[in-house]
Amino acid sequence: MGLLPLFQMSSKRALITGITGQDGSYLGELLLNRGYEVHGIVRRVALEDPDHRLSRLGGILPRLKLHAASLESFASIHRVVHEVQPDECYHLAAQSFVSYSFDDEFSTLNINIDGTHFLLAALRALAPECRFYFAGSSEMFGLAEEAPQNERTRFHPRSSYGISKVAGFHLTQNYREAYGLHASSGILFNHESPRRGFEFVTRKITAGVARILAGKSSELRLGNLDAQRDWGHAREYVVAMWQMLQQSEPDDYVVATGECHSVREFADAAFSYAGLDYRRYVKPDPDLFRPAEVNLLRGDAGKARRVLGWTHRTGFEELVREMVDADCRAVGIERGKIP
Ligand code: GDD
Repeated sequence: MGLLPLFQMSSKRALITGITGQDGSYLGELLLNRGYEVHGIVRRVALEDPDHRLSRLGGILPRLKLHAASLESFASIHRVVHEVQPDECYHLAAQSFVSYSFDDEFSTLNINIDGTHFLLAALRALAPECRFYFAGSSEMFGLAEEAPQNERTRFHPRSSYGISKVAGFHLTQNYREAYGLHASSGILFNHESPRRGFEFVTRKITAGVARILAGKSSELRLGNLDAQRDWGHAREYVVAMWQMLQQSEPDDYVVATGECHSVREFADAAFSYAGLDYRRYVKPDPDLFRPAEVNLLRGDAGKARRVLGWTHRTGFEELVREMVDADCRAVGIERGKIP
């Protein structure tokens, strides 16, 4: 058998679902920088409205190969896997807003569980050597019986989103055990950045601060200020995803900072950084409370540290400041020149 041409040997092919989101965009950058050929699955509407829906992909867009497909259609997932023949597949796409999962349990469960199942089944049939990453979530711990939570902590999800992630986690584990797929799950705690969607509380707060500074708004309505989360920087969390797939054996890993803060502390830090007192602007809104809340999440990433050599770098205050600065710039304010 002759040697493969150099260009075929030099780069691995990665397939990312959810490439247009916060994590997908950081992961796409990381993989391109490491010489991968990066393919992404996107909804057809995203290709029709690139300025809006592909905005996070910015400078890397010309280097990506995007495929229109739907996680709700096995046929379309099967087609893309057949075309791409990936070496690594990162399954990040989901209905990922916990609050919305209470409004529409059916579509959350369908998209999140079927989408994972379709992808695993297609890989098993068409690319069984492909390494698979499943985006698990600390929401799987839900009403956790211990803190911090690690890979052995029992799951007690509190929303259909959390339930869908537990199902995806077990599907991933089952494809690993039953069919020998190199399939790993990251149990990622909350991870934020200036690319976070506006519906999530951190970005809602930092964008709210910027709007108030710019005189475009006078208050910020929030729900449960006492919920506590372990917030890290998304750019660092995608490194752990990649590291998981470089291990000889597939496994599951918690990825977290080990520190937790309340929503109130996040608001306080963001408003204070802008020279404002959050108590003047934040208005409690009972409609924003969830029917079942996850009160406290704090992760123990000891295994990821030991096995992957992964560690977080960005601290809480630094994360808050980076997000406030970015949102202020977006409304034309330099923080040093706050009126
Ligand atoms: N979104 C939102 N909006 N959350 C609020 C608000 C508000 O106005 N007010 C208080 N909160 C509280 C929520 O009740 C929750 O306890 C906390 O802020 C964080 O909410 P989100 O930022 O929406 O994130 P999440 O923790 O529910 O879920 C995120 O992290 C998971 C990992 O643990 C999402 O990214 C999930 O997809 C991810 O799996």
